[in-house]
Amino acid sequence: MFTVRWADDSIELIDQRLLPFERCTLKCKTVEELACAIEGMAVRGAPAIGVAAAFSMALAAREDEPRKALACARERLLRTRPTAINLAWGVQRVENAVRNVPDEEVAVRALAEAQRLLEEDIARNRALGHHGSALLEDGDTVLTHCNAGALATGGYGTALGVIRAAIEAGKRIKVVADETRPRLQGARLTMFELMEDGIPARLIPDGASGLLMRRGMVQKVVVGADRIAANGDVANKVGTYMVALAAQDNGIPFYVAAPTSTIDPETASAEDIVIEERDENEVLAVLGTPIAPPGARAYNYAFDITPARLITAIITEQGVFPPGEVLRSLND
Ligand code: MRU
Repeated sequence: MFTVRWADDSIELIDQRLLPFERCTLKCKTVEELACAIEGMAVRGAPAIGVAAAFSMALAAREDEPRKALACARERLLRTRPTAINLAWGVQRVENAVRNVPDEEVAVRALAEAQRLLEEDIARNRALGHHGSALLEDGDTVLTHCNAGALATGGYGTALGVIRAAIEAGKRIKVVADETRPRLQGARLTMFELMEDGIPARLIPDGASGLLMRRGMVQKVVVGADRIAANGDVANKVGTYMVALAAQDNGIPFYVAAPTSTIDPETASAEDIVIEERDENEVLAVLGTPIAPPGARAYNYAFDITPARLITAIITEQGVFPPGEVLRSLND
């Protein structure tokens, strides 16, 4: 199954808002349509929105005045979701690819670069999966939060890529998936991917991870990332920080799996990461059904920060790094 692809002069997405109950393809023919798909989370996950944004730049490059259209597209896309650095990275990669080419070649070069990004992302996930798989032992149960699988990337996945690679290497791995309120990416998307692949998995309410760890039912935690700061602090789906605290209290290794496109050397530490705030109604309802009294208010921070001190290691396509040394993966 694909997450994002270019077909018939448009961007095709699996509409993740409808999974696991319906598999529908959403076609985006304009930058605005794609920007709305990112904001509405038809496509989500840091690497996936980076690739989608790159394809959206390729759409803009087909306009009569491509340079002007690219500048407008950049501005619109960067306003969609602020936390995942991959989005800016995807936009920047296309801009760099067309900077010194004649106007009549801009469209072809932009699309070629977006296609390259998609292929690179899958290759990176496979490579990081291979590095990370060495950290898992036969018989481990791995807890993960949110969805850092094929649906969150160009394909294969980051945290789920590590699990897939370990299983491909012959290890028997089970998964515990946090449901991930408020958008339920764990329940809807991670469980969908794992069940499609026949990987043994159990779903838990977010608040249960500490108990499972205490009871010896979890041996490792592997999560994805939306942005990794230069000092190794990690922004990821809200709730990740609490999982990391529980892991530390129980002496359980806590790994972050992400391609180097998620590392932001310009962001010194967590303090500089912009945390997206979404509509309160996502918290006040579950799949459209209200769960709080009319008029109730909510906080809806989409991400939180896990400080480097709680992270055992960061797994990238370049290898496994202590969080404080993650910038080395950009130079290797
Ligand atoms: O709000 P989402 O669903 O886009 O959040 C996704 C996550 O937090 C993922 O863990 C992260 O993007 C890594 S995906 C490989």
